[in-house]
Amino acid sequence: MTRNRVEVLHGVNLSELGRRDSEQYGGVTYQELQVRVGEFGRELDLELRFFQTNHEGDFVERLHRLEGIADGIVLNPGAWTHYAWSIHDALELTGLPAVEVHLSDIHAREDWRGVSVIRELCVASVAGKGVEGYREALTALREHLDVAR
Ligand code: DQA
Repeated sequence: MTRNRVEVLHGVNLSELGRRDSEQYGGVTYQELQVRVGEFGRELDLELRFFQTNHEGDFVERLHRLEGIADGIVLNPGAWTHYAWSIHDALELTGLPAVEVHLSDIHAREDWRGVSVIRELCVASVAGKGVEGYREALTALREHLDVAR
């Protein structure tokens, strides 16, 4: 059985990427990000599905509904990463392998950004590599899925 269905989840404020600090986020829009990440997915033979919301409850409910329709998760919850235990609990509930990704280097910014409530649940974390970081995240997830196949 092929396990290559990956849910790519983006959280709060990532819809506005093109208008945010380009020093941190590279100036790419969310739509452009989706296109680039979609290309990485095709290169890696992964079937990607994208979802973005600015509402924490919707993000949580999306995680609730992944049973049977995704084999793994790549997620960038934005600022929720740093404090939203509801997302920690919903991610845990999925039981799916997940990789955390951040465009900026959250460890080199404000102290509060260095905290990630989801890190302990993730098979890998990528930060500070811009859009390329998603290739790394998908590659790490794919390796994990291959091992578990
Ligand atoms: C981010 C980093 C977060 O600290 C920030 O709140 C974001 C984006 C990133 O991709 O670098 O919204 O997750």
